[in-house]
Amino acid sequence: MSAFTYQANQLYAENVPVIAIADQFGTPTYIYSKKHIVEQFKSYQDSLQGTTNLICYAVKANSNIAILNILAELGAGFDIVSRGELERVLAAGGKANKVVFSGVGKSFDDITRALEVGVYCFNVESVNELDRIQSIAEKMGKKAPISLRINPDVDAKTHPYISTGLKENKFGIDIAQAERIYEYAATLQNLDIKGIDCHIGSQLTTLDPFLDALDRLLVLTDKLTQKGITIEHLDLGGGLGVCYNDEKPPVAQEYIQAVRERLVGRDLSLLFEPGRYIVANAGILVTRVEYLKDTVHKNFAIVDAAMNDLIRPALYEAWMNIQPVIQKQEQPKQYDIVGPICETGDFLGKDRSLIINKGDLLAIFSAGAYGFAMSSNYNSRARAAEVIVDGNKVHLIRDRETLASLYANEHLLPH
Ligand code: LLP
Repeated sequence: MSAFTYQANQLYAENVPVIAIADQFGTPTYIYSKKHIVEQFKSYQDSLQGTTNLICYAVKANSNIAILNILAELGAGFDIVSRGELERVLAAGGKANKVVFSGVGKSFDDITRALEVGVYCFNVESVNELDRIQSIAEKMGKKAPISLRINPDVDAKTHPYISTGLKENKFGIDIAQAERIYEYAATLQNLDIKGIDCHIGSQLTTLDPFLDALDRLLVLTDKLTQKGITIEHLDLGGGLGVCYNDEKPPVAQEYIQAVRERLVGRDLSLLFEPGRYIVANAGILVTRVEYLKDTVHKNFAIVDAAMNDLIRPALYEAWMNIQPVIQKQEQPKQYDIVGPICETGDFLGKDRSLIINKGDLLAIFSAGAYGFAMSSNYNSRARAAEVIVDGNKVHLIRDRETLASLYANEHLLPH
């Protein structure tokens, strides 16, 4: 069930009227539902019952420490891509030994800190990176747990910017070279080969690409076993899509069921790295209409949120549902919903049929993933506040940025 519902024509976040939250915390504000986050995580957990598994929430989707803490308490592991994300996980009470470290460009500092705290596994993306991890581990007198991120060359059929498993992408190790590189990794004394990893893209709405990738990884697993290289785990990455508009993506249960069927008779533990599936529909962005502007060609609703708060529409032409917080019974009009930033690309939605007046509140749905996490200070705009609703309680989990903080780390030249 959705965490955001209309009751008597007014939008609620769980049991709290959204209007009350906007009055208390101002706009724009991200509002999350704890219940939705918990339910989505548990749907992965329940579907994996009876297997050895680790569900590593992809921190990049929404990295607020309150959300990481909720997930850590449910037993989640974490998929990270920077030392910054690692420090967040630790600050939120996450366990280092449940962390997988992904990303094509891990720095010396990233690797050193990860070895120091003892992450579960590095998902390695190149031979250079293997060598770097080996040399740092050797200096520290440690063994680094690794898996190779394989690029299986399957078409995830998603937006090109978020498709990662094609051979022209920068990600992973070409499946054709994988055996040779595993053999090389096996010769490095301070590496411990744990598994095979892949992540083919994000917002996938069918199972076929996942299952194609899985089949290819299983063929590779068998070849490695024949060569005496034991694979303990299979990490299938993230990527399961959600409904923004009218998509009907499979749910975790269907996905995991299909994966489990293919693994019968094998002694492999399973890792997943879901991000969007856990948090996208757990969040809305609430914004206020500053001005309505009718031109000969179009009507614009100029709101107080902008591409710096939510960049998905501008960056991927992503369609996100936008609805008034209070529903009215009047004649709707077509609007482009735009922000105050000086760029034509600063829009949140185009050609939406809405009933709105100046001063009204709008909710942008499915904004819990890659919303706040991708926000910036462009145009010297302070970033939004974030709150979590838990039943009838509202908790502020990130203050709205102050204007002074915008230039607090800058320095004038000496006079
Ligand atoms: N694992 C790895 C290695 C990843 O690169 C990603 C996402 C995930 C897991 C989580 O994928 P998810 O379950 O969330 O699909 N900013 C874009 C999405 C970029 C995804 C990047 N990698 C968007 O707003 O659509």
